[in-house]
Parts: sequence; C-alpha cells; structure tokens
Amino acid sequence: MAAILMEPFTRALVIESPHENLDESLARAGMDVMRVDKITSEKALISAMQQSAAQVLFKRSRVPVTRAVVEACPDLFAIQLCCIGDDSIDKDACAERGILVFNDPVSNGRSVVEMTVGHLIALSRRLYETDVATHLHRWEKSAVGRFEVLDKHLGIVGLGNIGRQVGRVAEALGMNVAFYDSRLVAQEVGDEMGWRQCETLQELFETSDLLTVHTSARDAWGKDNAGFLDDYLPMLGAARPAGSPRVFLNLARGNVHSTDALLRAVADRRIRRAAVDVYPDEPAPVQPSWVNPYGDEPRISCTPHIGAATQEAQPRIARRVATTIGNFSQYGALRDCVFSPRAKLNLGETVRGRAVLAVVHSTARGTKKAVDDAIYEAEASNLGSTHRDFDIGVAYDVSVLDRPLERAELRRLIERAAEISGDPDAIRAIRQIEVPRGGFRQV
Ligand SMILES: NC(=O)c1ccc[n+]([C@@H]2O[C@H](COP(=O)([O-])OP(=O)(O)OC[C@H]3O[C@@H](n4cnc5c(N)ncnc54)[C@H](O)[C@@H]3O)[C@@H](O)[C@H]2O)c1
Repeated sequence: MAAILMEPFTRALVIESPHENLDESLARAGMDVMRVDKITSEKALISAMQQSAAQVLFKRSRVPVTRAVVEACPDLFAIQLCCIGDDSIDKDACAERGILVFNDPVSNGRSVVEMTVGHLIALSRRLYETDVATHLHRWEKSAVGRFEVLDKHLGIVGLGNIGRQVGRVAEALGMNVAFYDSRLVAQEVGDEMGWRQCETLQELFETSDLLTVHTSARDAWGKDNAGFLDDYLPMLGAARPAGSPRVFLNLARGNVHSTDALLRAVADRRIRRAAVDVYPDEPAPVQPSWVNPYGDEPRISCTPHIGAATQEAQPRIARRVATTIGNFSQYGALRDCVFSPRAKLNLGETVRGRAVLAVVHSTARGTKKAVDDAIYEAEASNLGSTHRDFDIGVAYDVSVLDRPLERAELRRLIERAAEISGDPDAIRAIRQIEVPRGGFRQV
C-alpha cells in the first residue's frame, strides 16, 4: 500500500557532509535533522535511515542509494542531491516507491566555469608541467608550445548552464566561440549570443583550437552519452593551422570518452594538452586505493572531481536545496526534480484552500481520473490543480482542496486508482498538507 503522510516533513537525514548551513535551514523549516557525515556501506546507510526514520535524505554524489536501501526505508518520500549528478541513485526503484529525487542544477556552475577558464590559459601556456620542472630546479625558459588564447577558436560541446557561462567568459578573453548542442533551447541561446553553431561534432572538433565538454549524462532524446566523443578526439584542430594549441577539457562526465581514446589522441599528438576532472570509475567513499588511468601521462592534467569544490559553491548549494525541499514539503511545489528537470509546479504562494494534496502515481491509464474522482466522491472541492507526467513511468499531481481529506478517504483513493487502472500499485505515495492559517511561510 502506498505511503500516506499527513503533514510537512519533520525528519531529515544528511550524509556526505554538505555545508553545515543546511541543517539550520532545515530546522527553520520544521525538520529534525540527523547528520552522519561518513557512511561507508549500504548497511550503514540503511541503519542511519531507519534510526532517523527520515522522510527526506540529503546527500552528495558518492554513496549509492540502491534498491535495497529504498525498499528498507518505508518513511522515505524524497531524496535531495546536493550536487548535479544523479548517477548514485537507483531512480527506477525510487519511482516505483513514489520517492521523488531532486538535484541542484545551478549553484555550483560558476565554480566549474572558473576552473575551466583557468585550464584554458594554463594548458595553452604549459603552466602545470613548467611548474613541476621549475620545482625540480630546471630553468625551461622557452616559448615553444606556449600560446595565447586571444583570437583562438573555442569549441563547446553542451551549451547548458555551464557551457554558456564558459562561452561568455571566453568571449571576454577575445576568443571565438563555437558550439554543438542537441537541444533546441541551447541552440537558440548560442545563436542569440552570436556564436557559431556547428551541425556536427566533427565540424566542431576540426575547427576548434581548444575544446571543452559540458554535456549532461544524456542528450535531448535521453540517449546515454557514454563514449560519444571517442571518434572525434583525434580530429581536434585538424582544420586549424599547425600551430594550434589543440587543448581538450573534460570537467563534465568521466564516460563521455573512453580513457584509451584520450590517451591515444594525446600519444598521437592530435591533442597537445588535456585536463580531466572526472573519470569513468571514481573511487567509492572508503576505498583503500585508486588507479588513475591517466597517471602516466603528464600531458593530461588530473584533478579529483573538484570542479564544484569551492568555499562559495557549498553554502550556495545548501541554501538552494533547503528551499527546494522546504517548498516541496510545505506545499508540494516542484522544481529541480531529476525525473523531469525542467518541470516547475508552484501552487503554494497563491493557495486560498485549506489543504494541498500531492500524489505520486503511475502513468497507467485512468489513475489521474481516480484522483479526481476520489476528491469528488469525498465531496471536497478542487480549487486548482496541476499535473506533470515524468518519463520514468510516474506522474506528480498537486491539488488545492477546500478541506483536507480523511485518511479513510485517501485509502479509498488508492483503492479506486487500483480498480480503474488495474494496477494495484497505481498510487505510489500521497502527501496531504494542511494550509496553515495565514498561508505558507517562505522557506
Ligand atoms: N566537475 C564537476 O565537479 C562538475 C560540477 C558540476 C557539474 N558538472 C557536470 O557538468 C555537466 C554540465 O552541467 P550543466 O549544469 O551545464 O548541465 P545542463 O544540463 O545545463 O547542460 C548540458 C547540455 O548538454 C547538452 N547535451 C547533452 N548531451 C548532448 C549530446 N550528446 N550532444 C550535444 N549536446 C548534448 C544538453 O542539451 C544541455 O544543453 C554535467 O554533466 C554535470 O554533471 C561537473
């Protein structure tokens, strides 16, 4: 039977050390917070979840939330990632249980942009290897293989939140910006900026002196990006003059190219210098050793996924995720849900009813009708509702009612949905929140 919660969230578990300001914001939103910074196993996570009876879990990108975790934690209604990537979550298992998963797609962008721009100049000038040599008492004063970025052609693969900010800064440095993105909105942004749009990845690679990747895990049609750059790496700068810096950066996803493909392109001198911040296999929280696949190649600068690890980004993320969950908890508002990243639902600020009914249900035919029928049969009035289908087989439905439904009426809703749709698990989770006198608080 689907979980029913008749109040805003009161219990949260915080793991993996997000910024400490988070706990204070959650406490202000009425939640008891348990924080366990170091979780080293699935068993330890389940134990912390059960001990806290958490309704919402806050985490960063490393500790996996497996099906076993989801199934062992009946109180859980939401997972809030304090980062962008959602690879650590079994999303199908969450959707089946009506657990919505949220991320923070914006707060750490600036930190990644600054690191990217730093690399553009540092690699063009061979600063990293020169620093090492100078520390070894070698005086390598030479202009060989050192370039300015002024007037160079920068290719950006993925013109989303980060890619477009990189483009703006690069333009301010006097670079010529070109891009490739499969999403129409991103193409429009690039066109409006006056940047050159490439029809193919081949064109972008061949015409770029420096190229930086800022794609998400999947493209606009949901296709996995694993290995999608392998064939293009050797083409970098092929249509540029022989003296092109041919710099390649990946601060996005470790698997958009194979390690072999990048090592080969560097060994063959198709790419002169590269920097990576992400790897196909990044070490688990407690892992005795890790082998860097690029460890023997000094022309590839390596960092341990620190693109967003700055003093400024972490409190910014804490603020945003507390607001995302605070508003979801208090009045069912939706933003930054990884099941439907661009969906925004917000009835709360204008609510004049007495209760908000938020239902996660399957997309099976008739299930939405069952929700409406149940409200009608209970003789409650629906003062406004909004609905969103997610492409993971569930939908989210928020209705403002003139009175809260009784628990028995909510059980009837669950039964009715099962009858109409033929799916006993058609309703995955229900939250009903009474509207406080004076309306909702801003979180
Ligand atoms: N290194 C770090 O610490 C760090 C920190 C933050 C974000 N990131 C990563 O940076 C990447 C970009 O983040 P963002 O916030 O800009 O994401 P975003 O979703 O705003 O933008 C991604 C863009 O890539 C495009 N895209 C995806 N696949 C594509 C393909 N195959 N071909 C062409 N275009 C494609 C999308 O259409 C979208 O416009 C993400 O992968 C994110 O996980 C890394």
